[in-house]
Amino acid sequence: MKLSDAEFVILRDLIAERIGLFYHPNKRDLLEDKLLSLVIDKGFNSFLDYYYLLKYDTMAAEEWKKVIDALRVPETFFGRERDQVDVLSEVLIPRHVAVYGAKSLKIWCAACSTGEEPLSIAITLDRAGWFEQLPIKIVASDLSYSAIQKGKQGIYRPYSLRNFPTDLRNRYFIEHPGGLWKVAPHILSRIEWTTANITIQADCLSVGALSQFIFCRNVFIYFSEETIRRTVRHFFECMPIPSYLFVGASESLLKLTTDFELQEFNGAFIYVKR
Ligand SMILES: C[S@@+](CC[C@H](N)C(=O)[O-])C[C@H]1O[C@@H](n2cnc3c(N)ncnc32)[C@H](O)[C@@H]1O
Repeated sequence: MKLSDAEFVILRDLIAERIGLFYHPNKRDLLEDKLLSLVIDKGFNSFLDYYYLLKYDTMAAEEWKKVIDALRVPETFFGRERDQVDVLSEVLIPRHVAVYGAKSLKIWCAACSTGEEPLSIAITLDRAGWFEQLPIKIVASDLSYSAIQKGKQGIYRPYSLRNFPTDLRNRYFIEHPGGLWKVAPHILSRIEWTTANITIQADCLSVGALSQFIFCRNVFIYFSEETIRRTVRHFFECMPIPSYLFVGASESLLKLTTDFELQEFNGAFIYVKR
């Protein structure tokens, strides 16, 4: 079964509209590959039937969960792009405390995959003793329900810890049967888990409201410019002044002319709302 030109265009646009992920024409085979088994599982003879299911069927929500898991790129690991997290702990939280004292703060990891990113942040803040000094809420969300379920369990393969210092692994993880590692309960309990679609304004406003810090790293690379612009606007709307948006090292918002101002802190680039 082949994905025709016309089917590619309508499926690509539907996927971009609903979940943000954008497939350039040169990624057409990839999209075909990733969706083929879902189309066959449904007993369909064409991608067009599958398109109608996703767009109009009353059971579409359940099918979208499968599409999300088939299409999303789950890659993440502990200690990824650590310089930004160090700036959070060593520069931005001290500034917050200097200005507002022990006023509570909220950190939102908006596309956290299976949780390595928010847990790395919690470990960094724990090491610095911040949890004893002010109320800190860390909210971790992802589009994928199954990724969030995995994050809630807090059990990881050694591969997820490949970039994480061994002494920290031994301090913050407990060995788990099967050669796995389970994150310490006092770190896991710091995270509030939920699902959210960052391309939807209502999701951002309900999950991200009043976040002084939003981490949305390594997901914009899969979005079109128009979707990035829309998503960044949602973030801007739910953030107080001042607040800080962290995107991945290979992602730049500069050519999108957003309301954020790019600033460098100790060599790390962060977008600031002031
Ligand atoms: C490559 S992972 C990045 C994980 C983590 N932020 C990091 O930098 O290690 C990208 C994640 O973005 C999520 N994602 C994709 N589209 C999304 C959307 N519209 N809303 C929320 N999350 C989304 C995917 O499910 C995936 O878990």
